Amino acid sequence: MKIAILGYGTVGKGLVQMIEGNKNKRNIEITSILVRDKNKYKSSKYANIITENIEDVFKEDIDILVELIGGLHPSYEYIKRALESKINVVTANKDMLAEYGDKLVKLAKENNVSLKFEASVGGGIPVLKPLTESLEGNSIDSMYAILNGTTNFILSKMYNEGLSYDEVLKEAQELGFAEANPEADVEGYDAARKLSILSTLAYNGRVYWKDFYLEGISKIDMKDINYAKQMGCKIKLVGQSKKKNEKVSGYVRPVLVDNNNLLSQIDNEYNIVVFNGDSIGELSFVGKGAGKEPTGSAVYADVMDIFNNRIAKIDQFTKEKIEVEKTINNKCQALLRFKSPKKEEIISLINACIDEYDVIDDNDELAVMVYAGSEYEINNILCLIKDKGYCEESRKLLKIS
Ligand code: NAP
Ligand code: HSE
Repeated sequence: MKIAILGYGTVGKGLVQMIEGNKNKRNIEITSILVRDKNKYKSSKYANIITENIEDVFKEDIDILVELIGGLHPSYEYIKRALESKINVVTANKDMLAEYGDKLVKLAKENNVSLKFEASVGGGIPVLKPLTESLEGNSIDSMYAILNGTTNFILSKMYNEGLSYDEVLKEAQELGFAEANPEADVEGYDAARKLSILSTLAYNGRVYWKDFYLEGISKIDMKDINYAKQMGCKIKLVGQSKKKNEKVSGYVRPVLVDNNNLLSQIDNEYNIVVFNGDSIGELSFVGKGAGKEPTGSAVYADVMDIFNNRIAKIDQFTKEKIEVEKTINNKCQALLRFKSPKKEEIISLINACIDEYDVIDDNDELAVMVYAGSEYEINNILCLIKDKGYCEESRKLLKIS
């Protein structure tokens, strides 16, 4: 069994550790490891097979190419070349699947080889395999999830330890949870890419990540955290999607989650995915969503699936694109925050438009919890407040019970 590994960072090292730990059961030969700067690895026990030259990788006779570089390029070109050369591919790269999943799945099929990507969603949690294999026969009509370890780690530490956003982001980077460019984590792109992969597999049509409503956590401050505590909630970056009448709706956004909700129990780098299937009902998957060992475990399992010929079809990526609706079109609650001297005017406008609301704070700033028929209704009020010149900038955080 011969594999080549592209990338020897957090996940690459996690995979090698798994291979070493299971040596007695499975002898996997690593033919080469591609890195950007091999000087960093002079004292590594793998120094003799570490290279900066992709040609060194492809000149070997390999069964599987494991792509753990990340990003779109040159990873896309390397994966494409492997598939065209009839080499199986395992990757943890959600950016790649979310952008080029259709092309790569098609290419794998044409060349009669496998493309596996369990680690691309939920880190160490086996979730794609259960979704595509164990839940076959179920129609999944919705899902909600926490899909990013870095942001969940940041929000947990801000909430539990009162630490600042910047210092926890730094810690998440040091622990290997964050992406090379952490903007993908904190602005919600990473979670949206994962939600699009899950939604594509669940709804049997391509769901594009940029079509979701998308908002990250970079604007969450200690005031939000304190309001959450005051209301018996936590703040989580939540991804949700639903399929109804051949249309999908979905978002990735920070949300106030009631302390009684299962999602509020998921802290630090842990992730959760909850599916709703017509036969199975609600089904949850929880585990470590980022980090060396958990992700190495998921990549290793994909490698073993290929060696053991346990291959499921994943045609969903090649299907038609599905239209995505961004706004929540049913009853919802939201915390609205305004920095404005015209607090009374804002409250009387809310009072005129909405039946139910609670003023949470009217000291430093105005914070109001509103209960509305839909998110459109809330957005209309915010537009009105802006048009009347009462407040230029407001903040809105949805709440789920
Ligand atoms: P990482 O720690 O930054 O490691 C990246 C590795 O790729 C490094 O060894 C780097 O070389 C190498 N590399 C980067 N650009 C390259 C290029 N152009 N040519 C050759 N080698 C290059 O990244 P990671 O955290 O392991 O993530 C790898 C992939 O797994 C990404 O797609 C990520 O989204 C995904 N993933 C990560 C996690 C996680 O918890 N970290 C979890 C799930 C999925 P040098 O060592 O020389 O810099
Ligand atoms: N940066 C990602 C996260 C890694 O924090 O969830 C796992 O995909």
